[in-house]
Amino acid sequence: MTSQSLRDARKYEEEMERRHGAMPRPAFHLSARIGWMNDPNGFSFYKGEYHLFYQYHPFSSYWGPMHWGHAVSPDLIHWRNLPAALAPDMDYDRDGCFSGSALVLPDGEHLLMYTGVSKETLPDGSTREVQSQCLALGDGTDYEKYAGNPVLDYRDLPENGSKFDFRDPKMWKKKDQTYRCVAGNCDDAHDGQVLLFSSPDGFCWKYEKVLAANRGRFGRMWECPDFFELDGKQVLLVSPQDMMPQGFEYHNGNGTLCLIGSYDEETDTFTEEHNQAVDYGIDFYAPQTVSAPDGRRIMIGWMQNWDTCNLHTPQQPWFGQMSLPRELSVKDGRLFQRPVRELEALRGEEVRYENITFTDVIRLEGVRGRKIDMELSVRPGDMENVYRKFAVRFAQDDTYQTSVSYRPCESVLKVDRKHSGSRRAIIHQRRCLVRSDKGRIKIRIILDTFSAEVFVNDGEHVLSATLYTNPEVSGISFYADGAVAMDVVKYELTI
Ligand code: FRU
Repeated sequence: MTSQSLRDARKYEEEMERRHGAMPRPAFHLSARIGWMNDPNGFSFYKGEYHLFYQYHPFSSYWGPMHWGHAVSPDLIHWRNLPAALAPDMDYDRDGCFSGSALVLPDGEHLLMYTGVSKETLPDGSTREVQSQCLALGDGTDYEKYAGNPVLDYRDLPENGSKFDFRDPKMWKKKDQTYRCVAGNCDDAHDGQVLLFSSPDGFCWKYEKVLAANRGRFGRMWECPDFFELDGKQVLLVSPQDMMPQGFEYHNGNGTLCLIGSYDEETDTFTEEHNQAVDYGIDFYAPQTVSAPDGRRIMIGWMQNWDTCNLHTPQQPWFGQMSLPRELSVKDGRLFQRPVRELEALRGEEVRYENITFTDVIRLEGVRGRKIDMELSVRPGDMENVYRKFAVRFAQDDTYQTSVSYRPCESVLKVDRKHSGSRRAIIHQRRCLVRSDKGRIKIRIILDTFSAEVFVNDGEHVLSATLYTNPEVSGISFYADGAVAMDVVKYELTI
């Protein structure tokens, strides 16, 4: 049975869509149907389609009582909106249905697990949000909250676990047909930890152990964990809050962390071996993965950043978009990402240049656009005398430009969106250290109307950033300080 709150949200979505007509939006990145979007939730393959839910406040383009928005896609590129799936309408979730995950039960039902939030008044009169884990069951469109909710609450926490920060359950099914889930939590010193729970059937859940603990290394509370095996290694993704910067690897604020290691299934012991950031750009958070029917591990993230997401005007009918879904792999202890191969079906007109050499600014006939897939292969024009700087500038005209630049002598790659339409004094640049190979570098840039995603050296590093430049501004130029030789292939992407 659909609650009044959910009916209101669904009616509002339809009304607003009619009122605003075709809104300027990204073409192949999922954006909020109306109002506000944050984390991806319930990323799953069900009844022949990918389902993606998201943290959603339909009634304004700012964060508010969380609902779950819902969209489906046959190929992770063409998305179709479905009616909102969850509204905060029960006692245990009256202040929000926070992030969570989905899986398919043996009887064919779609099971959602999410965090129910309800405010509790403390002895000093202040209120805190208490968080517990809840279930909803459905058919791919309509979901019914489980009568036994919440299925995990403060009584299931370890002694030092905070009931105020206990959220974002990510479930999976084990080979032995039982279920596991990880949830973000922090201890009484507000330090992040990931808790592991088990269930024989998806309904009855039990605390197992602290699977991983921050021990003061990466930010504070750890949000949105995900845990999976990939290429013979075990990967734990988390999104830490309140990070301090560490070199060029981690930046201040909300970040993304990938821990790669090994996992002993018998004892549920995760042994960390490597750590790295997931995305080195400005806008990427709370990624979640799905295991595709063909075995690929595909990740999608919220392409925004908590510190800068409240700067738009209330008139903007929607706010928030997802990243491109990305295929993950692990090589030599590193996480690699590439845009899902389904994107290639959008490739239309191709423009190709080989071995262009230049020492200053050039433009290339046919190389422009704001919905493009462009691969650059850059090397020194003179091997004896490696160039000092290479840059590609896009979304460019006489006033605007966004750039990706590379300085081989420092191995530093930088994305800079200072001149991309923002009037705010916020972070507009971010750098990362890339593998240096005598001035050789491969850069693939995907532009979609209001974003740029930069995949470096076949996805060894990825940098994502949103742009505000008018979509009509579509020039591209290349810059070299020293002699650069370059191959370019650029495809127009048409949906
Ligand atoms: C991460 C997060 C989650 C929470 C959700 C609330 O961006 O803070 O931890 O479930 O957003 O919208």
